[in-house]
Amino acid sequence: MTCSAACLMGLLMGCLWVMPMVKTSTPADLCKPMHTLKASLNFTNRRQYMKHNFPINYTIRVHYEEVFRVSNISRLKAHVPGLQLGDLQELWLLVNQEILKKVVRVLPERHPSRRYSSNLEDLLRKVQQVFQTVRDRQHEESEPPEQIQEIWERVWDPEAAGWKWVKPKALLDNCYRTMHCLFSDCFQAPEQED
Ligand SMILES: *[C@@H]1O[C@H](CO)[C@@H](O)[C@H](O)[C@H]1NC(C)=O
Ligand SMILES: *[C@@H]1O[C@H](CO)[C@@H](O)[C@H](O)[C@H]1NC(C)=O
Ligand SMILES: *[C@@H]1O[C@H](CO)[C@@H](O)[C@H](O)[C@H]1NC(C)=O
Repeated sequence: MTCSAACLMGLLMGCLWVMPMVKTSTPADLCKPMHTLKASLNFTNRRQYMKHNFPINYTIRVHYEEVFRVSNISRLKAHVPGLQLGDLQELWLLVNQEILKKVVRVLPERHPSRRYSSNLEDLLRKVQQVFQTVRDRQHEESEPPEQIQEIWERVWDPEAAGWKWVKPKALLDNCYRTMHCLFSDCFQAPEQED
């Protein structure tokens, strides 16, 4: 599924909606690993490694919470008082690391998507490290709002109710799009591709 002009506009509006909440901007240190991640998540790669290399309509089982779209960001912003951009960025990192773990878990050692997926995991880990370093440096002790902590707990709980079967490419498409909203300081505008 490609993103039409209307869809890109919708995406941009969704992002703009998020931006006014930004009190603290994205630390510049984060942008370098984010750009590497973005390059690796380009449309060609997502299609090849997350769709073509899988059987037709292949799906993996994920928590509801791991279907994390631009619409979720707007909804959380509207319903969670005191929500900071950093909380959403941290949630994004958690969710996408969990998604990649699940993708890697279904791939045999020599599967043609294995190396790509492991590499994405490494890139996310790198972003996470920088993110944590910056947070520590800023002495940000504040805990994320309760609703966000509850999402964390459900994502981590293998016994949690509420699972969905989702195509791996759809999950990475979500990752790619939400990335542009949450790290918009690093990316001036959404890309002209899916
Ligand atoms: C996507 O990235 C791969 C390398 O990871 C590169 O070979 C390819 O040209 C890129 N595609 C686009 C459309 O930028
Ligand atoms: C894949 O899913 C689409 C849409 O749900 C369906 O039309 C198509 O027949 C499916 N293809 C196979 C091979 O199951
Ligand atoms: C995103 O919204 C879907 C419903 O559309 C919900 O099932 C899911 O839990 C939400 N994810 C997060 C992280 O809030």
